Amino acid sequence: MKDLSPKKIDLEAIEIASRDEIMALQLKRLKWSLRHAYDNVPMYRKRFDAAGVHPDDLHSLPDLAKFPFTHKDDLRDNYPFGLAAVPRDKIVRLHASSGTTGKPTVVVYTKNDIDIWADTVARSLRASGLRAADIIHNAYGYGLFTGGLGAHYGIERLGAMVVPMGGGQTEKQVNLIRDFQATGIMVTPSYMLNILEQFHKSGFDPRGSSLQVGVFGAEPWTNAMRKEIEDAFDIHAVDIYGLSEIMGPGVANECVETKDGLHVWEDHYYPEVIDPITGAVLPEGEKGELVFTTLTKEGMPMIRYRTRDLTRLLPGTARSMRRMEKITGRSDDMIILRGVNIFPTQIEEQVLATPGLAPYFQIELFRAGPMDAMRVMVEADIHNADAESRAQAVAVLAKRIKGMVGVSCEIEVKFPGGVARSQGKAVRVIDNRPKD
Ligand code: DLL
Repeated sequence: MKDLSPKKIDLEAIEIASRDEIMALQLKRLKWSLRHAYDNVPMYRKRFDAAGVHPDDLHSLPDLAKFPFTHKDDLRDNYPFGLAAVPRDKIVRLHASSGTTGKPTVVVYTKNDIDIWADTVARSLRASGLRAADIIHNAYGYGLFTGGLGAHYGIERLGAMVVPMGGGQTEKQVNLIRDFQATGIMVTPSYMLNILEQFHKSGFDPRGSSLQVGVFGAEPWTNAMRKEIEDAFDIHAVDIYGLSEIMGPGVANECVETKDGLHVWEDHYYPEVIDPITGAVLPEGEKGELVFTTLTKEGMPMIRYRTRDLTRLLPGTARSMRRMEKITGRSDDMIILRGVNIFPTQIEEQVLATPGLAPYFQIELFRAGPMDAMRVMVEADIHNADAESRAQAVAVLAKRIKGMVGVSCEIEVKFPGGVARSQGKAVRVIDNRPKD
């Protein structure tokens, strides 16, 4: 892998500013954002009034803890435009998430928001080691999802060449990566595994491709998966985080020279980590639920939005801005099996550490008599698909999972191709328990 460490000239001044400078900017912007929300969005005015707080009560950054949280349901309850803080003619873009239940959640952007979004994605790409001379294959889905267009405009802002591929058509993806000699790729890590499989099917050596950097996000993935992808393609695999409610991709990004967690672009998005039960703000370094407040967003400001993503905040390293540890999972995706909490990322680590298995897996929950049970469906590696190798993999993985989470589960090792492939965000858990 090439050394892609940035030179000082590649960085924006704020990325390496002192903490005092960053915090002074945050305080100024936070005051503006609270005021903007309070003055222009009836829900915030009502909430703040009910909680007995006013934007003028914010004198320091920790004062933010006095303000009420915003939840995903607030977006649904105010569907579609109830949380917009500007008149309709100032809105230039809408995105929406389909949502598994009920109404989709809608987010809206002004021209300035779109501009800042492109800037922060361009900054994320620079942090990932990409530059204006790169050709970047964008396989995040275009459309209502923020991934495709968010990445697209960031690539253009960087000055690089974007290949606006979108999701699906895996064989074509591989052909175009090769034809256009892409040096960067943006895609979910689980779909990157499909692309890997297609390289092999088409008889091409993935390590010999032109790719140098992959910017992977939109779903949780582990350092074990990073190693899997880096080794398979001989590329840097870098983590990009974001969510539509706050902006889209590029709220935080790893730096290619350190790969030690994601630097939060704190000049636009203010992070807190809270105890998900009590709502109390946790000290730096403690794990809990990530909460974001937008500092510059005009179209739809978000005050203390509860992401349900679990992580911890850490001091800056390659940049002055604080880092968030790679996300363990969403509280929504947590499996509670006989009183034990399990995240799909924990299973991912164990699958990838088991010899003879391919990196594809799904978890099925079902009822066995009165008890909940878990079945991990994995796939034999193409070179280890005989009965003996599969039986061995079952034994090793079962022992590993028991050792890690303390509960037994069933393991089913399928033949190569037997586990459903991700088309974007991977579906890790299939819940077949009766609804009672
Ligand atoms: O997934 C935005 C995005 C697109 C981020 C492309 C990165 C790349 P949503 O569809 O609103 O937006 O989903 C947001 O996805 O709350 C996390 O649970 C999860 N997520 C996003 N990035 C990461 C990541 C986009 N790097 C939700 N690691 C978030 C773990 C992630 N989870």
